[in-house]
Amino acid sequence: MKVTVAGAGYVGLVTSACLAEIGHQVTCIDIQQEKITMLQSGRSPFYEPGLESLLEKNMKTKQLQFTTNPHEAYSGAEIIFITVGTPEKHDGSADLKYIHVVSHTIAHYIDQDTIICTKSTVPVGTNELIQHIIESRKPPNLCVEVVANPEFLREGSAIVDFFHGDRIIIGTRQADLTDKIEQLYRPLQIPIFITDIRSAELIKYASNAFLATKISFINEMANICEKIGANIDEVAYGIGQDKRIGPHFLKAGLGYGGSCFPKDTKALVQFGTDRKHQLELLEAVIQINNRQHSLAVKMAQQTIGSLHGKKVALLGLAFKADTDDVRESAALTIAKELLEAGAIVTAYDPIALANAQKILGNEIKYAQDIHKALTGADLVIIATDWEHIKLLPLEMYVTNMSEPIVIDGRNCYSLEAIRRYPITYRSIGRPTIWKEDYLKGTQHDEMD
Ligand code: UDX
Repeated sequence: MKVTVAGAGYVGLVTSACLAEIGHQVTCIDIQQEKITMLQSGRSPFYEPGLESLLEKNMKTKQLQFTTNPHEAYSGAEIIFITVGTPEKHDGSADLKYIHVVSHTIAHYIDQDTIICTKSTVPVGTNELIQHIIESRKPPNLCVEVVANPEFLREGSAIVDFFHGDRIIIGTRQADLTDKIEQLYRPLQIPIFITDIRSAELIKYASNAFLATKISFINEMANICEKIGANIDEVAYGIGQDKRIGPHFLKAGLGYGGSCFPKDTKALVQFGTDRKHQLELLEAVIQINNRQHSLAVKMAQQTIGSLHGKKVALLGLAFKADTDDVRESAALTIAKELLEAGAIVTAYDPIALANAQKILGNEIKYAQDIHKALTGADLVIIATDWEHIKLLPLEMYVTNMSEPIVIDGRNCYSLEAIRRYPITYRSIGRPTIWKEDYLKGTQHDEMD
């Protein structure tokens, strides 16, 4: 099938590469020449495991091409995906300027009957707006049907998610028009749920809001665990065994970040406010998450007092592991708060240093490896659960740091493992381990 993807951002590129991989003829268009030139030379503008090789493979076989030329992109397109960004406005609502631009362009350049699938996360009612814009500007002899087709890809596992998603949502005003989309997705063998447009639009926001709620809930429980001496990992496991709750998305930490949860939760709250409906639960979810981003620095201050002049190693800058994305990352809040407190910060991340530096500038130092970040540090804060941070031999903290104090914002290590070393260790919702306890233990052993 001849498919066009409008927008070479995260969702657009993954969609383009994966649709080409299952045999469709894909053209991906973007207005940014620089990005398209980079893609034409086979390089991805961001890191996503497996994406670059998929792009390369499908460009070689000519299943996939990139362009900035709307005539080339839209002429002959049977299905057009809209994957442009819907960034956050000052009031938290979604900015639809790119949606407007792309809708106008599509209306101008299409030359046959077309189905438009909106993958961008858009407020309820936007697909009707897109239908109206295109309907009123397209050549009169052509039929255009706009359907909502929200995307649920996670950064870092987007390719796997595309091929093994839980469901495909199609929101349409005419269920009998979805044959072509079902045909497009058939090779994936993923269940397709067909519903009305407004419900489909809300499914995307409601999914992200629910997942964000799970995270803030478990973080709220983690904070109470700390007060009463319980262990959040045990609590999460215990509640997760109830099938009605499930084991996923119950990992306590420094809160959610990234390009979706923070933006979509705020947009939904604002959407409610605009309709005089206060989404109180979601407001609390956002507030808890903001508080959670600041928890690590508070813990650091509780543990060593003033951070003024202290050398702090910050491990992890990406909002989660396996991505170079630092948008809304807790690590950025931590870095800023550490600087405000007068600390000297050295940060390490395997792939997100460059993106972080664009935001944090040179007020902090950047280390190319973990050992350099740890050397001489008075305290370390772990902000991202990168696998090789988890696999770091714990004696590194003892030998490299001037004082082995670890604030683990992602519960990377088991308490049993930490107890074998003279480390002061604070994590989220678990008992604190003091270096002194280890030393007392070894003295007892010697006396025995
Ligand atoms: C999310 C949704 O999962 C995806 O369906 C949607 O399309 C886009 O938004 P993403 O932002 O890539 O995907 O990341 P995800 O893996 O969902 O994690 C989001 C944030 O929640 C991260 O900061 C992560 O560290 C945090 N998180 C996740 C937790 O703190 N605890 C958990 O148990 C799970």
